[in-house]
Amino acid sequence: MDSKKELIVSAIKDGTVIDHIPARSLFKVLSILNLHNIDTPITIGCNLRSEKLGKKGIIKISEKFPDEHDLNKIALFAPQAKINIIRNYEVVEKKIVEVPDTIEGIVKCMNPKCITNHEQIRTFFYVIDKKNVSLKCKYCEKITTQENFEIIK
Ligand code: CTP
Ligand code: ZN
Repeated sequence: MDSKKELIVSAIKDGTVIDHIPARSLFKVLSILNLHNIDTPITIGCNLRSEKLGKKGIIKISEKFPDEHDLNKIALFAPQAKINIIRNYEVVEKKIVEVPDTIEGIVKCMNPKCITNHEQIRTFFYVIDKKNVSLKCKYCEKITTQENFEIIK
């Protein structure tokens, strides 16, 4: 383990480490996970050096284990993120987040005329590019891309 990294964001005893988040997506990931409502310790590293990403973000959530739904949300903004489950200081599980084939809810359709922006209809998208995460709206067929994602709370 890289000891310098550990000096920046220390190891946790139990919980979830979301690693390899592109630096520019860190605050989006924080926001979609609703971490402001959590009462256990959260440590965050931003703009840490990473060989793969240039700069990365890391989030360590003590005593919490997000469910599948939350992990899918992470994949939208940080497809390369790695989830590490920590028990008694050991990494007991590593999960890769995967962009699903379809996305229901989570983000708005960027077409202002789309029915989902005018009526109480949950958004639904087909993922047409998993690498760059582009979504095609089921209702208006317009494409919403990662840089335009607006999160539905
Ligand atoms: N970690 C932690 N607390 C622990 C153990 C690990 O916060 N008690 C963090 C590490 O800092 C690292 C991540 O969990 O960011 C994964 O740990 P580990 O698998 O040991 O590191 P790497 O092999 O570098 O991970 P990767 O698979 O991402 O290369
Ligand atoms: Zn639409």
